[in-house]
Amino acid sequence: MEPAAALARARTLLLEAPRVLVLTGAGISAESGVPTFRGPGGLWKDFRPEELATPEAFARDPRLVWEWYGWRRGLVAACAPNAGHLALAHWMLGRAGISLVTQNVDALHERAAREAADVRGADPAPALPIRLHGSIARVRCTRCDHAADHHGPVDASARETLPACPACGALLRPDVVWFGEALPAAAMARAAAAAQAADACLVVGTAGAVQPAAGFAMTVARRRRPLVVVDPGPTAFDGMAEVKLAGSAGAALPPLLG
Ligand code: OAD
Repeated sequence: MEPAAALARARTLLLEAPRVLVLTGAGISAESGVPTFRGPGGLWKDFRPEELATPEAFARDPRLVWEWYGWRRGLVAACAPNAGHLALAHWMLGRAGISLVTQNVDALHERAAREAADVRGADPAPALPIRLHGSIARVRCTRCDHAADHHGPVDASARETLPACPACGALLRPDVVWFGEALPAAAMARAAAAAQAADACLVVGTAGAVQPAAGFAMTVARRRRPLVVVDPGPTAFDGMAEVKLAGSAGAALPPLLG
């Protein structure tokens, strides 16, 4: 399909669908300067995930794991939502029926929702994502059920300077999902319901290598509802996509959703 025809077809599919599931991954934040996980410059390239992003790694060396998350937090804090995040946020604030499910922990969808809502004098809530993998801007206690927003630098110079729970004093950990851990049950249930109800699906910037996140888009395709994929590289969804827009999120989403 010609690029202009593909864009027009994708717009029709998404704008006419009463309920849309949007699944995003690291690629939507690439133009904000946040590295993706796989591919050139990917976050996992210089680190072995099992050394950093597992409960065992945290139990063994919480200082090292906090150091890595502190570095990622600093990196994300210096970034801003890009045109892709903002186009999506405005689209979600302008119409009902869209569920945004993200694998990203960078809080850029949340920041875009607030920016777009400010411009419109609206409530950001309809543009907030369902977070499958948690948030780098939140912490939870390793002992009790305390969980909270937590921004700013973390002093990972010693075990003793790591953040402690204000309720029970135990060590706090990043509120993200690590390898081998279950995904948050409430987010899973909301995403599953959205996938079952969706009349179309938009997938942006995810290779589709990680389950169960990828499975939500695949559920929509299995239900024979159309899939639109925005990704400059190959993805696990390409064979089931009705339209593939092989551009970057920042370039492709504004004309697609505007
Ligand atoms: P990946 O790094 O696997 O995939 C990123 C995708 O983004 C690739 O398909 C790229 O082609 C695409 N991409 C790159 N630049 C882009 C751009 N400017 N616009 C649009 N797409 C672009 O990242 P994810 O699929 O998000 O999990 O990875 C899934 C999960 O794997 C992550 O949430 C993380 C990781 O292990 C956990 O940490 C639990």
